[in-house]
Amino acid sequence: NKESEIPQPKTYGPLGNLPLLNIDEPIQSLTKLSYEFGPIFRNVLPGGKSNVYISSEELVAEVCDESRFDKRVWAPLQKVQAFTGDGLFTSETDESNWQKAHNILIPSFSQRAMQGYHGMMVDIAVQLVQKWMRLNPDEHVNVPEDMTRLTLDTIGLCGFNYRFNSFYRDEPHPFIVSMVRALDEAMAQLTRFEIQDKLKIMTKRQFKKDKDTLFSLVDKIIAERKSSGEEETEDLLSRMLTSKDPETGEGLDDENIRYQMITFLIAGHETTSGLLSFAIYYLLKNPDKLQKAYAEVDSILTDSTPTYKQVLDLKYIRMILSESLRLWPTAPAFSLYAKEDTLLGGKYPLKKGDSVNVLIPKLHRDTNAWGEDVDEFRPERFEDQSKVPINAYKPFGNGQRACIGQQFALHEAILVLGMLLKHFEFIDYSNYTLKVKETLTLKPDDFEIQVRPREQVK
Ligand code: HEM
Repeated sequence: NKESEIPQPKTYGPLGNLPLLNIDEPIQSLTKLSYEFGPIFRNVLPGGKSNVYISSEELVAEVCDESRFDKRVWAPLQKVQAFTGDGLFTSETDESNWQKAHNILIPSFSQRAMQGYHGMMVDIAVQLVQKWMRLNPDEHVNVPEDMTRLTLDTIGLCGFNYRFNSFYRDEPHPFIVSMVRALDEAMAQLTRFEIQDKLKIMTKRQFKKDKDTLFSLVDKIIAERKSSGEEETEDLLSRMLTSKDPETGEGLDDENIRYQMITFLIAGHETTSGLLSFAIYYLLKNPDKLQKAYAEVDSILTDSTPTYKQVLDLKYIRMILSESLRLWPTAPAFSLYAKEDTLLGGKYPLKKGDSVNVLIPKLHRDTNAWGEDVDEFRPERFEDQSKVPINAYKPFGNGQRACIGQQFALHEAILVLGMLLKHFEFIDYSNYTLKVKETLTLKPDDFEIQVRPREQVK
């Protein structure tokens, strides 16, 4: 076993590999580098720190072995910690609040729990359908903006019985304005030198204000719920306020509940909104798949709104969403650290505590796992679940630290895409060319379409 150096692009003095990256599109830049440097490479940051990126089925299978690796709260998430603290997403596995909150919240995200949320999800989806129904034929729909309205309102209602009422606002809800600006700032801090960062006094002040806006909204919801004494609401908040961890017998404290709420609002809506937007994009560009999708919804969605069971029956719609997440995983990377000294791929030495980052968009295009047609949109890949190469498909992360909201996101996305297909024809009036916008998540940039009620088309 000969030890090898991890491949690395050329560096530019104190800037490291930064000049090779487009800082507005770090994930897409890193993906390009992985085509050049292969399934494992090192990227050196300004100041000398470096990150290792991996993107092949074999290497990812190794780091997904939870006896050897565990989640690392990597640099972008550390910045987000300013407002999500020790919430599920940004806590270390060995912090006591991670296990406690995980145990308390798992039942709220089971497939069975989705029956309880279904009616609320339909409520918000109907608002979107009604908005689109009332448009004049020449009006445009900004798809990611409307999907963000929908997913934010859905997690607000299912999570905390709170209505953001985004469909009644032209501008995003103040919570979203603050959240987006705070996330942008958290990301921007990553590429600044320490001294530059210290000089950004106005930006820092704004960051603090935004954080206060996020905190005050959720604190108000918590206080109102406590004072109303409502017990019957079966949402995430009531479970967090009343449930005890079966292992320790303890409940969650108010500060942690605040962090969990902000976590769900952030983690629970941008990713699902991006997923729905990419799915609509791919259907527009693949008319034969669109026809199959129409055929499925026309045969299954026979009532005015879908039932819980009908959503489960929309198998092809689910495959469309799985394939969209393969091509553009909207949470595009996750990070792990070695629990002990180890060799990765039999030759790359890692010390205990060293991190590796999984570059999901490239992993999902590993030709060894998926075949040569990786760039094609082909939902049929997911027809037979047993044929999906699980270590080359990680849109929801891995193991015990995988996405707790996976069922929630999929139930919501299948329901909404199904309803939109039942009611509308999508028109690609501008012959849109895909441009992927990066924040913490990915979404199609400036993606606008026109819609027509289908009855009118026939
Ligand atoms: C974790 C993706 C929707 C809540 C994760 C992780 C990924 C992911 C990749 C692992 C992150 C890591 O290892 O650092 C997605 C995608 C979604 C989605 C692609 C939609 C298509 C949701 C929804 C919710 C949610 C709807 C909540 C309602 C969370 C939480 C975690 C998480 C709380 C942290 C879990 C833990 O470590 O205990 N998600 N997610 N996500 N997600 Fe999601």
